[in-house]
Amino acid sequence: MCGIVGYIGGRDCADVLMDGLEKLEYRGYDSAGIAVFEKNIIRTVKTRGKLKCMADKLAAEGKPEGFCGIGHTRWATHGEPSDINSHPHSNGRVTIVHNGIIENYAELKEFLTEKGYSFVSQTDSEIVACLLDFYYDEREPLRAIMETVKELRGSYALGILFKDFPDRVYATRKGSPLIVGLGESEYFIASDIPAFLKYTKNYALLDDDEIVAIDNGGVRFFDVHGIEVKKRVQTADWDIEQAQKCGYPHYMLKEIHEQPEVVKKTLDSLVRDGVPDFSGIGLTDDFLRGVKRVFVVACGTAMYAGMVGRYAVEKLARVPVAVEIASEFRYMDPIVGEDDLVILVSQSGETADTIASLELAKSRGAKTLAVVNVKYSAIARGADMCIHTLAGPEIAVASTKAYMVQITALYALAFRFAYARGKIPADEMKRLTAQLYNAPKAIRDVIDNKDECQFIASQLVNVETLFFIGRGFDYALSLEGSLKLKEITYIHSEAYAAGELKHGTISLIERGIPVITVATQRDVLAKTVSNMEEVKARGATIIAVCRKGTEFAEGTVDIKLGLNIGDEPSVGCEPSIGCELDDMLIPLPTVCALQLIAYYTSVLRGIDPDKPRNLAKSVTTE
Ligand code: AGP
Repeated sequence: MCGIVGYIGGRDCADVLMDGLEKLEYRGYDSAGIAVFEKNIIRTVKTRGKLKCMADKLAAEGKPEGFCGIGHTRWATHGEPSDINSHPHSNGRVTIVHNGIIENYAELKEFLTEKGYSFVSQTDSEIVACLLDFYYDEREPLRAIMETVKELRGSYALGILFKDFPDRVYATRKGSPLIVGLGESEYFIASDIPAFLKYTKNYALLDDDEIVAIDNGGVRFFDVHGIEVKKRVQTADWDIEQAQKCGYPHYMLKEIHEQPEVVKKTLDSLVRDGVPDFSGIGLTDDFLRGVKRVFVVACGTAMYAGMVGRYAVEKLARVPVAVEIASEFRYMDPIVGEDDLVILVSQSGETADTIASLELAKSRGAKTLAVVNVKYSAIARGADMCIHTLAGPEIAVASTKAYMVQITALYALAFRFAYARGKIPADEMKRLTAQLYNAPKAIRDVIDNKDECQFIASQLVNVETLFFIGRGFDYALSLEGSLKLKEITYIHSEAYAAGELKHGTISLIERGIPVITVATQRDVLAKTVSNMEEVKARGATIIAVCRKGTEFAEGTVDIKLGLNIGDEPSVGCEPSIGCELDDMLIPLPTVCALQLIAYYTSVLRGIDPDKPRNLAKSVTTE
């Protein structure tokens, strides 16, 4: 996945492009580049490395002076990160930036080679520049784009400059996002809204196969046949502060701190008269009563959020729920049909495997529900119904606040599901909802006591391998805690259902290996403690994450992280008693502690947690 930007207007283009790329750097950061019309001639500057390297290069070489151009930040797919493979790519008459994958690039390359084209990079993207040039003989940019996209298979968002048309930007897309920002006499293209949020909140969405032509006179949209179309102007409900670090050293830490607020905001949007109400999106009680099975399909952290949702829905509504990895679901010929509800969970709404799973579920007649944070995304637009989570822009590659609002939404759904199916009365739905409103306070408490997580991080900073274990909700949390830790610290970590370790993996436990035991669920606590003791007996260092009041036998636990979420049994408790949470809801504050442990370990190891190696924020390729 990559990020693309484009600008035309009265400002210094290079500055606007670099500014936009900084907001899109979460999409890829192994190289960057810009191309700007400088006195009617396109000047390109690009380099391998993070945007900082690009800024240094511009400072050393002098930035291109002009008011119209395109830019790119790359996450390499075809060809290693290098100066040559960086975008923009050009073949003389056409200069492009590309986000996506051209699947038939090899055959197009062969065709173009026969036509006399030669290539300097190993990228699939350079082929697009050459193909555009091939179809540009009549010097009609729109026609050249229309002919070119007919030949492309795969996904793309393209920003295009034609050397004969200074101060004009073209763009088109299929499968990859592209948004057109509409300012006062200035216009933008971008992979995501934060890239131009500083200048305008107004935007229009480009649909698949549409083309936009932008010059100083304004913006014109065309359909696949070249017929001009009108687009709806929309207004972003994000603030620029949400897309900035605001004094925090990293986006990840800022986003962790935002969690109490975004949980409340998301809840407020889902709750009417004290109970979750999804009738506005067509998710009525009648519909929920008729559902036979639920599938939650997602990737990575979003999939682990789905596991929490599964435990909650099954526990309360007694409907069978399967959690499926999207990249598997799409190819496993799943038994899914019209009585089923398929829930697609995604922060970005543009994850390729989740999109494909959505299409598959629809083709089998299942009803689809998106739980998505980016409301203009492909998944949000493609599903039958959409719960729009309100985390705001999540910039750090490691997902934190998006996971938090995903599980918030899934809990709310579980409550309504259970009520609709007659498994809990209205009063209980109300009580559970009030409990969920306690979560922001409990999360805030974890953040206020972050020094405890910092201490645990200091104990992990030099380890080579560690384990997470837990049962039920704690197992789902272990998976997420382990993913978070390994993705931003590069420490090898595995998560296991606590009872499963002794079926093989326990052979890896030796003296000093940390085992983070998530032990918040009182119904299985005794069993989890036995598993803890099994690994302790083999030399493990036990770090227990549990309720503050949980007691363990002397010598079992080396470090205890006690969460201040009430020690009394939840049965019959009043929601008004501060942070008290039902066990089922404890994942909300607990995951915050696991995120903080991962964050501080990353920082102590000298890693940038916002931009871990090899990763990009959204995975738009298979
Ligand atoms: C989370 O920390 C990861 N970076 C990753 O697992 C992510 O959750 C996954 O790629 C799914 O992304 P999505 O939510 O945008 O679909």
